[in-house]
Amino acid sequence: MLDRRELLLGAAACLAAGPAATAETARPTSRRPGFGAALTLWDLQADPRLGEAISKYCTQVVPVLEMKWPMLRPGPDKFTFERADAILDFARQNDLTMRGHTLAWYHDIPDWTKAIQEKKAAEEAYVDHISTVVSYYKDKLTSWDVVNEPIPDKPRSITDRRDCYWSQMLGERWIPLAFRTAAAADPTVKLGINEYDIESAKDSFVAKRAAFRNLIQDLLDQGVPLHMVGLQSHLHAELEIDKDGLAAFVAELRSWGLEVIITELDVDDQKLSGDLAQRDAIVAQRVNDLFTAVTASGPLNSVLTWGISDRYSWINGTFARPDKQPNRPLPLDGSFQPKPFMDVITKFTKTA
Ligand code: XIL
Repeated sequence: MLDRRELLLGAAACLAAGPAATAETARPTSRRPGFGAALTLWDLQADPRLGEAISKYCTQVVPVLEMKWPMLRPGPDKFTFERADAILDFARQNDLTMRGHTLAWYHDIPDWTKAIQEKKAAEEAYVDHISTVVSYYKDKLTSWDVVNEPIPDKPRSITDRRDCYWSQMLGERWIPLAFRTAAAADPTVKLGINEYDIESAKDSFVAKRAAFRNLIQDLLDQGVPLHMVGLQSHLHAELEIDKDGLAAFVAELRSWGLEVIITELDVDDQKLSGDLAQRDAIVAQRVNDLFTAVTASGPLNSVLTWGISDRYSWINGTFARPDKQPNRPLPLDGSFQPKPFMDVITKFTKTA
């Protein structure tokens, strides 16, 4: 009999080899319903503790990099699905569902794509990409982040939209076209729109939230197949959550028939002072306030953190602390031990 660790290690070893072995894994009681984490294949293959932790606590995963345009589409005529497929194999072997991230984003557009100068050719590449990728993963994913981060950081008005390669080439149609193309390729997968920096009461956050709300309403008015709204929730530890404003926003989205989920939760703690326990308590408080706002009008059926252990987080590289101490943005510490953040997840993901 293989024990659980051996099964996981076996699964990791199979990752590059294609089709998954059908390992029967027991569902540990520490698994939180609806809780998931983002991961990269590099980290999964390098450190068996990562797969063990995700399998222990999570019911879903999302790839950090492997389904973004540059990884799936290194050239105009070349799609490479192997790395995303390896993560899907890991998910299946460990009884986890998978989300797709992301089809249309202002960021991470390869140079070969940006070199396309002609509008018609750009639209063809865009539609071909979304259609091919969504068709390939038909019936394999629960949902897609179709459009990622469509609102600028400091919107000038509630109609302001992100100025990017796609908007320059396709106009405002880049957003509805992505949804319509995805829905045509897979009519059953849930299609979402994802945004960050809308959770606090800071002016720019409130403006961004209003612009996001307005865009969503426009899309629904146009009959665009949009099913879910992702609050990325890359929180800033020094900023309080705007509990009332966020709760009202989420309640309104739900009143329009949309599902609201948390897609990329972590807490940037670069500006926090104090000892580790004090810092962890503030991080957990922000998460608690976020969940309180989101659950005021309905259940939190899906919450994903952007990584699971502080050891593997983009925050360390992108938002490093001035005192050079390691950041502590995620539910497990660098040694994969749970922190107060994980207690908050447990509290809000209890089965009824
Ligand atoms: C980030 C990854 O975590 C980094 O490793 C990468 O260098 C850049 O992208 N919002 C998103 C994610 O939607 O795709 C981003 O992921 C983090 C912010």
